[in-house]
Amino acid sequence: MKKTIYKSACLSFVLVIMVTVLQRGMTPSHFIQGQQQKELHQEPVKAQKRDGSFSKTGNFWKSKKEKTHLEAEGVTENQVKSWDVTTINCTANQNISKLDWFKGLEPNFRQFLLYRHCRYFPMLINHPEKCRGDIYLLIVVKSIITQHDRREAIRRTWGQEKEVDGKKIRTLFLLGTAAKEEERANYQKLLDYENHIYGDILQWDFLDSFFNLTLKEVHFLKWLNIYCDSVRFIFKGDDDVFVSPNNILEFLDNKKEEDLFVGDVLYKARPIRKKENKYYIPSALYNKNSYPPYAGGGGFLMDGPLAIKLHKTSETLELYPIDDVFLGMCLEVLKVAPVRHEGFKTFGIVKNKNSKMNKEPCFYRSMMVVHKLLPLELLQMWNLVHSNLTCSRKLNVL
Ligand SMILES: *[C@@H]1O[C@H](CO)[C@@H](O)[C@H](O)[C@H]1NC(C)=O
Ligand SMILES: *[C@@H]1O[C@H](CO)[C@@H](O)[C@H](O)[C@H]1NC(C)=O
Ligand SMILES: *[C@@H]1O[C@H](CO)[C@@H](O)[C@H](O)[C@H]1NC(C)=O
Ligand SMILES: *[C@@H]1O[C@H](CO)[C@@H](O)[C@H](O)[C@H]1NC(C)=O
Repeated sequence: MKKTIYKSACLSFVLVIMVTVLQRGMTPSHFIQGQQQKELHQEPVKAQKRDGSFSKTGNFWKSKKEKTHLEAEGVTENQVKSWDVTTINCTANQNISKLDWFKGLEPNFRQFLLYRHCRYFPMLINHPEKCRGDIYLLIVVKSIITQHDRREAIRRTWGQEKEVDGKKIRTLFLLGTAAKEEERANYQKLLDYENHIYGDILQWDFLDSFFNLTLKEVHFLKWLNIYCDSVRFIFKGDDDVFVSPNNILEFLDNKKEEDLFVGDVLYKARPIRKKENKYYIPSALYNKNSYPPYAGGGGFLMDGPLAIKLHKTSETLELYPIDDVFLGMCLEVLKVAPVRHEGFKTFGIVKNKNSKMNKEPCFYRSMMVVHKLLPLELLQMWNLVHSNLTCSRKLNVL
């Protein structure tokens, strides 16, 4: 425990320095040449021991170009199955740009539609070795390049890779590229470094935007099909939620049924037609009155074989800009009904956002997923929930 805290502290320290460096517009190599060189070179060496399999980090910032990330030990390049998309082959679909209904759409929808047919992009960071051995639960977290503090908090709390009663838990963060040009160069180097230390990043070469979350979904499913097709269960969620892996394991214990898909399921949700809303969908894009049942993307559980089926099905459907609805559409084709469970509170514990109940650790203790906590809140809540908490009554949701 003490060691973990120390390691985390070291890494946080390093990250803080780096962010400072970037904010001041210096490049890391400038900085390394300066007086702080010693610290940067010493700390990471301690921080990297997590897996025992990383090479020396000392030269990381000096190397001009990162070596390919696909060089994980034991995985050769001529492995039969590998990510087969290596170039970006994607041009705007000019066919639709002349159509009147298209011209009337908001810019973000036009952007989405122009590139809707581009489904697969190259991988920038891969971990083909992640699923080696029998993995019981794979935790995958949607993240963006600038939110390293969220990833850090998750690694210290619910994203810890461990083994419980012989059941292996592994964690991966799913990323695209920085949405803003000015973020790209600096943050990418930091991300490479973060990945160098933790080895838990998957990154694809597409822009991380709200409408590209569906792209992230299908890329992940394709990745799973190639590199992780025998995993038992998958938890997929956002990077600003509280998750209890223990409760999830308890819930999954003795689950025999096939086609398990559990979460905060919405039935007959209506497409939102108010333009100001984040989830607004013009009827030109979807004209039915309601969506098929789907689980809120904040966090849900599925079994591995179902995820593989979802991959195959997803390839037959046109991409839809809202990722969780898109999965609901795939489930509908598969005739699999997602199941609602009280332990998933991806829209808060109670509807009233200001209610004190949303901060009540006794609730968290019996939940599997709760939306939405920022890094500091997550760390605090995690510690509270795992302390000797006395609750007046035990909630029985599992
Ligand atoms: C790009 O895609 C088009 C059609 O989708 C195909 O004809 C072309 O060969 C592809 N080019 C490359 C370099 O893959
Ligand atoms: C555009 O239209 C042409 C001709 O109808 C078709 O062959 C092509 O596949 C279309 N492109 C896209 C991206 O749908
Ligand atoms: C999704 O990513 C692709 C590739 O980076 C980009 O061309 C496209 O504009 C993005 N789409 C949206 C809606 O942001
Ligand atoms: C919680 O209580 C148990 C026994 O009641 C005790 O052994 C343990 O040290 C306590 N843990 C903490 C973190 O206080």
